[in-house]
Amino acid sequence: MCGIVGYVGTKEAAPLIWDALLRLEYRGYDSSGIAVLDGQGISTVKCKGRLSDLKARLRELPAATLGIGHTRWATHGVPSDRNAHPHRDCTGNVVLVHNGIIENHRELRERLLKRGHRIESETDTELVAHLIEEEYDGNLASTVAHVSRELEGSMAFAVIHASEPGKIVVYRDKNPLIIGLGDGENFVASDIPAILPYTRKVIVLNDGECAEVTRDGILIKDYSGRIVHREPVVLDARAEAGEKGGYEHFMLKEIFEQPEALSRAISARIRYDRVILEEEEFGLSADEVKCLDKVYLVACGTAYHAGLVGKMLIERLAGIPAEAVLASEFRYAEPIIPRNTLCILLSQSGETLDTIAAAREAKKRGARLLAITNSALSSLAREADNVLYQRAGIEIAVASTKAYTTQVVCLALISVYLGRLRGVLSPETERELCAELVSLPKKAEAALGVKDEIEKISSELFDRKDIFFIGRGVDYLTAMEGQLKLKEISYIHAEAYAAGELKHGTLALIEPGVTVVAVMNDPALSQKTASNIMEVKARGGRIIAVGSEECLLAVHLDGDDARVPVPATYPLFSPVVSMIPLQLLAYYVAKRKETDIDKPKNLAKSVTVE
Ligand code: M6R
Repeated sequence: MCGIVGYVGTKEAAPLIWDALLRLEYRGYDSSGIAVLDGQGISTVKCKGRLSDLKARLRELPAATLGIGHTRWATHGVPSDRNAHPHRDCTGNVVLVHNGIIENHRELRERLLKRGHRIESETDTELVAHLIEEEYDGNLASTVAHVSRELEGSMAFAVIHASEPGKIVVYRDKNPLIIGLGDGENFVASDIPAILPYTRKVIVLNDGECAEVTRDGILIKDYSGRIVHREPVVLDARAEAGEKGGYEHFMLKEIFEQPEALSRAISARIRYDRVILEEEEFGLSADEVKCLDKVYLVACGTAYHAGLVGKMLIERLAGIPAEAVLASEFRYAEPIIPRNTLCILLSQSGETLDTIAAAREAKKRGARLLAITNSALSSLAREADNVLYQRAGIEIAVASTKAYTTQVVCLALISVYLGRLRGVLSPETERELCAELVSLPKKAEAALGVKDEIEKISSELFDRKDIFFIGRGVDYLTAMEGQLKLKEISYIHAEAYAAGELKHGTLALIEPGVTVVAVMNDPALSQKTASNIMEVKARGGRIIAVGSEECLLAVHLDGDDARVPVPATYPLFSPVVSMIPLQLLAYYVAKRKETDIDKPKNLAKSVTVE
């Protein structure tokens, strides 16, 4: 989704901003632009397409040492040169970039048009440049703060004014914005990776804050105009900027990083055969845990699929009623939150607006908030009462892989922990579950061994119109995530069904040659799934069965079918292992189709609009 970068210092701004935007490329975008400010005024270049298209235009810009840049993911108005940011007012003195959505854009546009403004784009963003033009009183920061009061929606801005050289004004409300502190230079960005090569000292703006950024200093004011003093956070020196490390795509690299990521997520949290969570990671006392009446798991997309597994884990291991809800639905569903409710919010990026809005709704209704996220300093991490970090390492590919498996193990850790505190799990059972958790990185490593076989299977699937995924119990949840992965990057229509539901309608879609991926990891359910597989085969369907050896024995497959064994584990932990072949399947089918695997069409890595 959209990315913002700004620079003020002594270096030439445009190439530096371009380079920083490139590090946000993974977020997804369809146009880009850069504006620089020097003694002569503001010069802008922008165009539809990739940053490589913009690069050719950078020579049109003067060698200024201040500028702002943007990658746009279209919401209001098609992807085009005209709608690309930065946008300007009628005079060209005010130029800005924006992430988010201005919800009252219609009435603002009407009002500005009536007053004679020339509005050139279809965007909501440009309107803000005209509002600043109208209200400018010689002080850009106070004007931006004032104009922001007229805006509804979510927004992060970086604004420059021809009459105030040497200054970038930024404003944040419900969209992330950080300021990076350098030596004789400062940076602004919507995301940390943009500025990692230049500085590790960052200040995160809060909602309603407006800041003036010059090469020598930062002045932050809150919504009421009071000066805010905030110490910068120094990022971990290991914070990665994200390199492919010899892999053809980030997605493949991230699939292969799973054993290590799982080990980071698990190892320090299991000691002496027990799950140990630090105070800041969990926060509820043993008495509070005993009183919990309900757990909500709220998230979007892949994180929601992890949440569904979490619901099963929490109910089974801790005996607490749990419900997984899509974040985009939660907020408007008037959720009933009993008195002692824990709301677990899952988000790799920690910036998904739907999830953050759901967190606020849950908090308003009295729930305690626990975030499971991969991103320190993210909006969600700061919103929640406690944060359990996934420790997966930066995930660049739009299709989530290691974020999913580390979320599932975080939920498994929480469930075991809750189960002990509530007296549901005996020490013996906790010991066995902990041993199983500790073994997951090795089992994930073994599951990666099916790579070549999956590549071979994929070569026969790339031209399919539809592919179905089935499973029972937790395997149905793995199937759901498997189908999302496939359609997201291969653009093949895929659906997941609870295997027992086939005969209630879906079997009508099965005809000779249709591929059905069956997931089987729960010995208690494998015979039943095997019967459902026979229903598919009887109608000419072709099976790819993924699961533990023991479960796969239950099914009779023949020449056309494929068998993909993965190591057995406790069934509710199995998504961590059996998801790996499904991730590889999606990857190799997409590769064969030559799609843009790391940046699939129409999708963005971090979805900061509702
Ligand atoms: O950053 P989040 O975990 O909050 O993102 C949620 C979804 O947008 C995300 O999981 C999406 O579904 C992935 N692209 C799927 O691979």
